[in-house]
Amino acid sequence: MRILANVIASQAKLHAQFGGVEPGLARREHQKLIEPTIKKSLEETKVIPTELDAVAVTQGPGLAIALEVGIAKAKELAQQWEKPLLAVNHMEGHLLSAFAKDKQGEKGIDEPQFPALGLLVSGGHTELVLMEDFGSYELVGQTLDDAAGECFDKVARILGLGYPGGPALSKIAKAGNENAFHFPIPLRGTADFNFSFSGLKTAALYLSQELGDLSPEQKADFAASFEKAAVAHLVDKLAKAAAQLKPKMVLIGGGVINNRRLQEEIQKEMSHLQIPVHTPQGNDLLTDNAAMIGVAASFKFERGEFADLKSLERDPALSF
Ligand code: KG4
Ligand code: ZN
Repeated sequence: MRILANVIASQAKLHAQFGGVEPGLARREHQKLIEPTIKKSLEETKVIPTELDAVAVTQGPGLAIALEVGIAKAKELAQQWEKPLLAVNHMEGHLLSAFAKDKQGEKGIDEPQFPALGLLVSGGHTELVLMEDFGSYELVGQTLDDAAGECFDKVARILGLGYPGGPALSKIAKAGNENAFHFPIPLRGTADFNFSFSGLKTAALYLSQELGDLSPEQKADFAASFEKAAVAHLVDKLAKAAAQLKPKMVLIGGGVINNRRLQEEIQKEMSHLQIPVHTPQGNDLLTDNAAMIGVAASFKFERGEFADLKSLERDPALSF
């Protein structure tokens, strides 16, 4: 399937003043932005509602109030346009993003090979998913505490870099010395494929207290050293799972995959194991977006897995 439009109405700047997502503001902004965003998408695609096959919406996981706004609007449109409704798991959207083709029908995965192993790294989740086929998933690893993106954001905050901190932290890390400070790599010795990021966050907090005021050079060194450990942890568990589960391809997705160092280390490690890695074709498919929900929905449409217009409800804790 091709992506004809991927309109993103980001609220990140508004929430930045609170250092994180402010729920009341999120609900208001969602309500305000949803109509103009849908209108703009339809304009960009040059598709009229009668030409659509279905309406798809995120069921979860995510912030309840945001999910509610989307589901209410999707139900309204499905009814008005007389189209079937599809309910999508947000994480399935991240997992299947690498299947998306661009407007010209280029890029994206042509011949999927199963089983596939997915590494999904975002602000709310850190997951390893074994995919036997479309619609057939098994969660084989996840974070025991904080998500990786959440940890990047918290360490960025410790360094006074603002919100969302992941992109800002990885930017200054480029100029830093990754060996300046020692951050222990979490759960190195455990045989399972789970993650833990709260220890790294605490280590960063203690180190910053010990060091006091940091010069810009020290901040860059701090960021590079932290990033090295966080990336090593993600790649370590991915490699462990890949060696044991022997997938035929690896799919990566989620906002933290924007991190160049992470992408490079994943490629390097998987090339040792001779497993191809598929990354979504554009950065706007990594950070939260609606196109990835459309991608997952198109496979659900093929399987005839429609949602019930009356009973569909948000599921903030929806899991694989
Ligand atoms: O997938 P996403 O857009 O939203 C969720 O579903 O959570 O991921 C957002 C997360 C944030 O924590 C953000 O700081 C992180 O992705 N992120 C990064 C980078 N770009 C975004 N983390 C590290 N390095 C980056 N370059
Ligand atoms: Zn996400």
